[in-house]
Amino acid sequence: MIRRDLLKAAAGAVVVARPGQPDPAWQGWRVDGARANRWLTELARFGANPGGGVSRVGFSDADIEARRWLMGVMREVGLSPAVDPAGNILAKIDGSEPGLKPLLFGSHIDSVLNGGNYDGDVGSLGAIDVMATLLTKRYRNRHPFWVTIWADEESGLTGSRGFLGEISQEELGRVRPSDTVPLGELIGRVGGDPAAMATYRHEPGSIAGYVELHIEQGGTLDQARIDIGVVEGIVGIVSFEVTISGFANHAGTTPMPGRRNALTAASELVLAVDRIVNRHPGRQVGTVGRLDVKPGARNVIPGEVRLSIELRDLDMAKLDRLWREIKAAGDAIMSRRQTAWEASPRPTNQAAKSDPKVRATIAAATRSLGLSQRVLPSGAGHDAQDLARIGPMGMIFVPSVGGISHAPQEFTKPADVTNGINVLLQTILRLDQA
Ligand code: HGY
Ligand code: MN
Ligand code: MN
Repeated sequence: MIRRDLLKAAAGAVVVARPGQPDPAWQGWRVDGARANRWLTELARFGANPGGGVSRVGFSDADIEARRWLMGVMREVGLSPAVDPAGNILAKIDGSEPGLKPLLFGSHIDSVLNGGNYDGDVGSLGAIDVMATLLTKRYRNRHPFWVTIWADEESGLTGSRGFLGEISQEELGRVRPSDTVPLGELIGRVGGDPAAMATYRHEPGSIAGYVELHIEQGGTLDQARIDIGVVEGIVGIVSFEVTISGFANHAGTTPMPGRRNALTAASELVLAVDRIVNRHPGRQVGTVGRLDVKPGARNVIPGEVRLSIELRDLDMAKLDRLWREIKAAGDAIMSRRQTAWEASPRPTNQAAKSDPKVRATIAAATRSLGLSQRVLPSGAGHDAQDLARIGPMGMIFVPSVGGISHAPQEFTKPADVTNGINVLLQTILRLDQA
């Protein structure tokens, strides 16, 4: 006991006697939950919709304003945020032990159209709150700590894929369906450097670990009244941009037989996706979330339809099988309807398992806080599934009331937000000490 106090007094900061036992003091540390919940309310202003919720799509003006505000908050608490070539906001704190790899924690602040104010926001503000708490406590981290706010998560994990070096110059030159300018230009708008992305990468083994706090989005924890979810794995996501071509013609003078109606073909395809995904056992899901009809006039037979198809499951091979069935069904529909289709694949998000050691550390942190927990898979995609390719990954879930997300009604109670951030704090401390 005397030795440790001496060391502490000597360094004037909280250090841990090595070799020796961790200083128990940090096990009692807690974040100031009110601060993070206040930040959540402030962040919700950027892209707020009159009817509630938020539309803060990646790279939009609202996203740029929110990022500027967030970097201000980071500076206020003593961090020095910077934007990397891929457009991610990173704040790095050096470690005390040379040679140790960085421990990363964070999430995203961009949203879907008409989304909620917790998806990504809780994990991003939670990571800043953890870092602010450690700085206040003058904690001497052994590993470098990197707070990571990933860019454009909702459109396919853009920032974290860029961080890994998995976005090609070709993809940077492409205009995505819902954009008007190439991806590279968008990344430049938020302070990234698309040209530098050609050599910017983080290799497997280059980090000590990555931990992401996130709302569950599903209803499992809320229904079961469980405080914390320990994520076992994150689904893989394959998605396609589909164009169906028929022939636009007069709705009055064109007889029914022989019409090449792109929309009736599309309607059959939408139902085929639903039928095929439903007929297999398991938790896989399939969604057609966007559909645009051209020319889109009451008295004109639709000549073209563009739609999106998305499939998710923990098993990538199953996604392959599902797509092959959908492709075969689509081909049959198009030949029967005398229409044609093209399905161009979007970047795939690989399924990922969380690391057993990180999972165990999250479970221990949760126990130390006296909170209940359950191990569960993530049906939502997260940047964590990318980071899992370069180091041990773990995710912490907090309950989503009613299992609602990607909607204005998305809600997580302030106490659950605080619980989640405390689990993140204690997890990071334990990983740093390990
Ligand atoms: O789509 C997703 O699963 C996530 O919310 N980005
Ligand atoms: Mn998210
Ligand atoms: Mn989301």
